[in-house]
Amino acid sequence: MAQKSVIEAAEKAKEHGIDLSKLPRNMDMDASTITDHVHAMNSNCPDERTKFIFHSLIQHLHDFVRETALTTEEWMTAIKFLTATGQKCTDIRQEFMLLSDTLGVSTLIDAINNAKPPGATEATVLGPFYTEDAHDVENGGSIASEGKGDYLYVEGRVTDTQGKGIPNAIIDTWETDGHGLYDTQYDDRTEPDCRGRLHTGEDGSFAYRAVVPVSYPIPADGPVGAMVATLGRHVFRPAHLHVRVEAPGFETLITTFFMDGDEYVHSDAVFGVKSSLITKPEIVEDVELTKARGFKEAKPHAYIKRDIVLATHEEAVKARQLLATQYKRA
Ligand SMILES: [Fe+2]
Repeated sequence: MAQKSVIEAAEKAKEHGIDLSKLPRNMDMDASTITDHVHAMNSNCPDERTKFIFHSLIQHLHDFVRETALTTEEWMTAIKFLTATGQKCTDIRQEFMLLSDTLGVSTLIDAINNAKPPGATEATVLGPFYTEDAHDVENGGSIASEGKGDYLYVEGRVTDTQGKGIPNAIIDTWETDGHGLYDTQYDDRTEPDCRGRLHTGEDGSFAYRAVVPVSYPIPADGPVGAMVATLGRHVFRPAHLHVRVEAPGFETLITTFFMDGDEYVHSDAVFGVKSSLITKPEIVEDVELTKARGFKEAKPHAYIKRDIVLATHEEAVKARQLLATQYKRA
């Protein structure tokens, strides 16, 4: 740094009320002194929670470097990897979310933050394929265009923990087509497909036509895919339907319904499966019912009945507090 910018930086620090004379006077850092010095430099952070998080982050990061005796080359590999991860992100591709998912961090964050009271539907990871542009769909309408896969009819009720229906809850749902691809993975995507937004009726009921989801590989053409391959892991998620449910007075629920019997149900590449979320589709042979439910072709269809139970804010806060005592979290 040129001398002029050093002076400017010092002036700026003074403007922000940082008294340079009171900062720790350390130099000649080595592997045993650097960590405490960084802690001391961060100790003026006015926000206690931010200070605490950075203290823990620095401690673990430095311990990690010491424990692994990380080489310069390995650190550069990490820097290049993170750079490539950022560069892979677009409006419809979130490589950092995929990284968080594949490292199990998303599931851990979810476990700590989304404790649910007994009876409420469990949450799980959002995944990288949620978009905000889903079309509104009539209750009983279709989220998938014709030819996208085998027919699936989904219905249920959104209720509170006492079983009372929640009217006008917003259900956002998204899934792969029969090829295991989300609409955003097609280069020629012009509009959303295999995703939709609907509102529950007066009694909390909902229904929609969809396609039977299939297991699919997470996007493996980027740095995260390369990392997963390096670790000798497979890249598959078991077949599932994503659901996000929002209603005033209730905690927004982000969850997924997994199809029973899928070969990857016990080894999800992003660790999102919970046994309470596994659903067994039933095959409806009655083609008259297929027609009555609005499908175009008179052929058997798969059927899922799945109620969704939301926790109120108060119930969720209580459940989180209970869990927080377990993890000693402030
Ligand atoms: Fe998914």
